[in-house]
Amino acid sequence: MLKEIKSDIYHLLHPKMIFLLTSISKDSKPNVMTCAWATPVSEEPPIVIVCVEKSAYTAELIRQTKEFVINIPTKQLLKALWICGKTSGRNSDKFKKSGLKINDAKRVKAPLIEGCIGYIECKLWKTVEAGECYAFFGNVLHAEADEKYFKKDAWTKTSGIPFHLSGAKIVYFK
Ligand SMILES: Cc1cc2nc3c(=O)[nH]c(=O)nc-3n(C[C@H](O)[C@H](O)[C@H](O)COP(=O)(O)O)c2cc1C
Repeated sequence: MLKEIKSDIYHLLHPKMIFLLTSISKDSKPNVMTCAWATPVSEEPPIVIVCVEKSAYTAELIRQTKEFVINIPTKQLLKALWICGKTSGRNSDKFKKSGLKINDAKRVKAPLIEGCIGYIECKLWKTVEAGECYAFFGNVLHAEADEKYFKKDAWTKTSGIPFHLSGAKIVYFK
């Protein structure tokens, strides 16, 4: 029997892969937040969307410097995913708190998170206001993936990629 879902309709669209979304300020200070609402929207040219709450520091930085990186983590970074999803970089240093280390990206100033198995470097193309979020459309400038876990155009089931179900519930590729 079907039941009507009256609130938090988005749960019907989960599980969704969990990402670490990095951005950078005008004075070159990086930030990182946990993000599940990201999706491809065009193959040619490659365009992706990340949906970020207007109140998030990340939203301010992406609007400022017009770039971001989608970092694809594994379950090894689970603790950091929660820290970066529960605290704001506006008033704390999440890299210190989470122990996450950064490396230079190839085409943007926003950094890459060490230990991730895939990276999508984006330049902001368009911003759409959608309720409490901004939908940031990014032109993909560069993307790479760890060949150990990304084979024949697909993540392997042993990649350990986490997926968000709801609240604190996460499922994995083992
Ligand atoms: C599993 C998980 C998924 C999340 N997905 C999103 C998301 O898609 N969009 C969003 O705006 N916030 C999302 N958040 C919340 C942000 O990570 C959180 O508000 C963060 O503190 C923002 O950091 P900032 O202020 O440094 O940008 C998520 C949190 C968790 C734990």
